[in-house]
Amino acid sequence: MNIMVIIAHPNLETSRANRAFKLELSRHAKFDVRNLYQEYPNWKIDVEKEQQLLLSHDRIVLQFPFYWYGCPPLLKKWFEDVFTYGWAYGPGGDYLKDKEFIVATTTGGTKNCYRAGGDNWFTISEFLKPIQRTITKCNGTYLPAFVTYGATSQDNDVYLSQEAKRYIEYIQTYSSLLIH
Ligand SMILES: Cc1cc2nc3c(=O)[nH]c(=O)nc-3n(C[C@H](O)[C@H](O)[C@H](O)COP(=O)(O)O)c2cc1C
Repeated sequence: MNIMVIIAHPNLETSRANRAFKLELSRHAKFDVRNLYQEYPNWKIDVEKEQQLLLSHDRIVLQFPFYWYGCPPLLKKWFEDVFTYGWAYGPGGDYLKDKEFIVATTTGGTKNCYRAGGDNWFTISEFLKPIQRTITKCNGTYLPAFVTYGATSQDNDVYLSQEAKRYIEYIQTYSSLLIH
């Protein structure tokens, strides 16, 4: 299975969680890892290149820090630019059919905040529905998200390195084992 990881972090240099994940990814040659903000500092996304990369991978992991209950803006733009009418959806737009997508996100809030009645009122699955529907609208397969909660608490290096290992295991797990 060809796996591409698209990291969308506006400032990976100051990141701890997503940088720890990136470091762990780099220990495994099997993943094609991209850094969206580094590749497109002027936000001019190369649509043809992105579409070709999507075609040549079976599974796409979208890794980002959770910002204002969603993804950072360059990833939103990536969807808008790359998932075009007639390619991703609409007449003849079936190029993403059966591609697997996994959202992998890190939050400042704890798991307890992300529940009915909790600080954030809703679960992460509820917040991610626009991405889920974008992918399913384009006939992609949306697999359950990987979430690292409480990623910003101090002195959490051990936690983050454990989460990084769990992340690597998760993104290469067969879809039938992720959906149960
Ligand atoms: C602009 C901004 C918005 C954020 N919004 C949220 C949010 O909506 N929910 C949340 O739990 N954490 C939020 N956070 C915290 C980030 O999710 C957290 O800093 C990040 O996941 C840590 O990852 P990193 O070390 O790779 O940067 C926000 C942080 C920033 C800078």
